Amino acid sequence: MSYVPSSWLPGGKPDPLIARRVTLGTQQPRVDGPDKVRGAARFAAEVPMEGLLYAACVHSTIARGRIAALDVSVAEAAPGVVLVMTHRNAPKMALPPPIGLTNLKAAGNSILPVMQDPDIRWNGQAIAVVLAETQEQADHAASLVKARYEAVAARTRFETAKADARTPDSLMIEKNQLKKGDVQAAFQAAARRVDAVYRTPWHNHNPIEPNAATIVWSGDRLIVHDATQMLNGTAGSLAKVFGIKESQVHVSSPFVGGGFGGKGLWDHQILGAAAAKLAGRPVRIALSRAGMHRLIGGRSPTEQRVALSAEADGKLTGLIHHGFSVKPQHSVCDEAFTLSGRSLYASDSVDIVQHTLDLDVLANTFMRAPGEAPGTFALECAMDELAHALGMDPIELRRRNVSDGDPITGAPHSQSDMMLAYELGAERFGWHRRVAAPRSLKDGEWRLGMGCATGSFPYARMPGMSARITIDDNGHATVSSAAHEMGMGTTTVQQQHAADRLGLPLDRVTVRIGDTSLPFGSFAGGSSQTASLGAAINAASAKLASQLLRLAGNDTPLAGLKVGDIEFADGGLRKIDDSSRHESFVSILKRAARREVSVTGESGAPLEMLKFSMHSRSAIFCELRVSDVTGEIRIDRLVGCFDCGRILNPRTAASQFRGGMIMGIGMALTEETLFDERTGRVMSASIADYHVPVHLDVPDIDVLWTDIADPRTPMGARGIGEIGITGVAAAIANAAFNATGKRVRDLPLTPDKFLFA
Ligand code: MOS
Repeated sequence: MSYVPSSWLPGGKPDPLIARRVTLGTQQPRVDGPDKVRGAARFAAEVPMEGLLYAACVHSTIARGRIAALDVSVAEAAPGVVLVMTHRNAPKMALPPPIGLTNLKAAGNSILPVMQDPDIRWNGQAIAVVLAETQEQADHAASLVKARYEAVAARTRFETAKADARTPDSLMIEKNQLKKGDVQAAFQAAARRVDAVYRTPWHNHNPIEPNAATIVWSGDRLIVHDATQMLNGTAGSLAKVFGIKESQVHVSSPFVGGGFGGKGLWDHQILGAAAAKLAGRPVRIALSRAGMHRLIGGRSPTEQRVALSAEADGKLTGLIHHGFSVKPQHSVCDEAFTLSGRSLYASDSVDIVQHTLDLDVLANTFMRAPGEAPGTFALECAMDELAHALGMDPIELRRRNVSDGDPITGAPHSQSDMMLAYELGAERFGWHRRVAAPRSLKDGEWRLGMGCATGSFPYARMPGMSARITIDDNGHATVSSAAHEMGMGTTTVQQQHAADRLGLPLDRVTVRIGDTSLPFGSFAGGSSQTASLGAAINAASAKLASQLLRLAGNDTPLAGLKVGDIEFADGGLRKIDDSSRHESFVSILKRAARREVSVTGESGAPLEMLKFSMHSRSAIFCELRVSDVTGEIRIDRLVGCFDCGRILNPRTAASQFRGGMIMGIGMALTEETLFDERTGRVMSASIADYHVPVHLDVPDIDVLWTDIADPRTPMGARGIGEIGITGVAAAIANAAFNATGKRVRDLPLTPDKFLFA
């Protein structure tokens, strides 16, 4: 039976750890830090294996059609080559099952067949995999494969695809189309209105560690060392694809060098496993940066219309948020950019709907703060435009409209104090120094400006995630779960959590994650992992208490007490608030002649999400300069103040927030996948062409938080992994408007747009 934390529901008591925490909330260094610094942390492409073969992919150069001729003979004869796999000799494989919120055993971003036929479905699809004794030999031989295609007309143009746009019923777990009140009438009667179209481009994933897997078949068992944020999803999917049992697939991923949504299941793991099967040898498939741009989907471009109408006092009367994103039919992930608009502000009338475009392109996928990153860009620029039209301070405009609870359903917030985030952030930033009139301040060639924007990301907790707690006869606790460490501090924070939960010092808790041999884990995505794993550990601790009480028997200071009477403290159990009736784990196990006691708990149905409106929010502030000569933007300062419940470890949290904000700088200024609409080809398939921020692009970033406990979540915390990027591009664009008087609604904010706008 799974544990449902009914105490967090209305009328219940919040998690007692909110009040009782010891190490939670304190700065703790990363448990995995020393190994990473020493180079001892082993990543997927570093796992050594006897007889390892290296894989290189050959990619199609057309977007749609079929392979008419494929000559692999020269490649096969090249030095070191062991085999070339194509659709002609690839093993039969089933379709990868799609990632779904109801199927945690699936991780596929695309549901297309993998190398099963001569059909080409996107420009960049793998048409051959070369296996060789070294990576260099494989790469060279891949360049010798000759393909001839019969091309057919491909759908690769955003604008053209609008004619056949689809309107999905739902987005993630929300209804797509929302209407409330009479928007037309509101706009007609309004004192002020703004109405504009905002665009965000394709973005590609560029984590430090490229996608990679080292794969071996041991008889009919498949062993995959992967870089994944979906361990059990990957195992379940590969089992389906190869027609074997889940228990025959072992996926290991102890360290991941950044995920951000791009480390799910893609064709390369499937191709690597297929090629390993064919060769009868282990295979490493480590994608090049170019390979990542061909085989790992990115964030869909969006075109969004946001229209706002308001009374003279700034009160919103109408909100329209419409738009388009790309989601091919074979693609799984929604780019739900209208989510921000439906939860942030209270408006008398709303009209919200988004449409998807079906193109012959690689499946798009989630990328840090899917939906909310582009969505807050459009909505928060529009709010700034409205503030300007009203002659009102943009923070004041938000104060007059911030919603108390869900603006559509009326569900109460679990906890939310966005305006406190604005107040604290404005004070830290020095917002009072801002000159409201655009184009007022100049310093040589530079125009100076300040801007702000709201960031937002929903809370999520995944059901089904489980954790095992084992207490040994030394009183040491080991917490195990197939959870993920992508650099965010999972091990560190859950060690703190388990220590506080079990009444132990930190050094008596070990956290083991990153492997499907451990209890089932949900994915590290949707900023949900900390809450999901936290709930699982909480559930396990409840079982542990009752198990230990049973083991303790009657010859104990705990005799006669029930589970409801006891708590964990000082390395054992005690009567609540009565240290005279205490027995240690060591003593209980010793008397019972047990080496250890082990229990498993599960994150139950996330009922709190049904009862409450649960969102993390932020207030982002930017000070920047724009060159009158070159149009270049230089960011001088960013401040982010976050309202995300309790912060569990200020060190790892600050790093998450700051990292997200740096991605926001990339989104604002430079990141743009250059997609050739004539051919469907990604032209910017390297980090020389796809520009992520470098140190010189990144100014001082100050992060702070409200640190108010959310009484409806484990440990009082909401997710913080994704919110950092949200609102940042809008704050930067709004500051650029304040500096120059030019309103650029098209990301990225490249110099040409300021010079020639
Ligand atoms: Mo996140 S885009 O759910 O890794």
